[in-house]
Amino acid sequence: MTLAPRPRKAVLTAHVASSVGWLGAVFAYIALDVTAVLSRDIERVRSAYLAMELTVIYAIVPLALASVIIGIVNALGTSWGLFRHYWVVVKLLLTLVATTVLLLETRTIRSLAEAAGTVADPRGLPGSLPHSIGGSVLLVVVTILSLYKPRGLTRYGWRKQQDQRRNRRDPIDAVPA
Ligand code: HEM
Repeated sequence: MTLAPRPRKAVLTAHVASSVGWLGAVFAYIALDVTAVLSRDIERVRSAYLAMELTVIYAIVPLALASVIIGIVNALGTSWGLFRHYWVVVKLLLTLVATTVLLLETRTIRSLAEAAGTVADPRGLPGSLPHSIGGSVLLVVVTILSLYKPRGLTRYGWRKQQDQRRNRRDPIDAVPA
């Protein structure tokens, strides 16, 4: 099913806003993560951990889930498809890895925030920089892929293209899509 131009534009707008919003929220989270690890001020460190938890739960996770769901709708609703072009397949895989790591890491971030909220001195609690920086690099790669759309059809995409060409050439023999 292909989306008509107006709904397609609306879906693409929602997709770009949620996806790049996700990237922006991760950059804000990294600022808190660096503060939590480097600051020598007890209350600043405590606030950083508490803010990290809020940012993950109320911004990063909802934006990530929205990006994945709308991204899949975007792919299935356009001639790009989900498995026809390598750039979409790679985006899908990288985004699913990022979302899985994020959901697993959310539990750790919640327990860090709980510890920071209760101990007298939260300095020395571990940060989560390898995950937050790793996630931001992955999302930057996905954004670059989205804008440059490197050519490359999968085998499935190639077969689909051949079918479409055949159907255009011999409409009578066309097999319903
Ligand atoms: C499940 C994962 C994803 C899928 C299946 C997906 C699929 C797509 C598709 C098919 C388009 C083209 C839509 C069109 O031309 O109408 C698109 C555009 C785009 N995607 Fe994704 N996407 C996913 C995740 C992401 C993520 C995580 C980001 C960034 C962090 C992202 C950023 C973008 C951007 C910036 C565009 C607009 C490109 C342009 O208009 O030239 N996507 N996406």
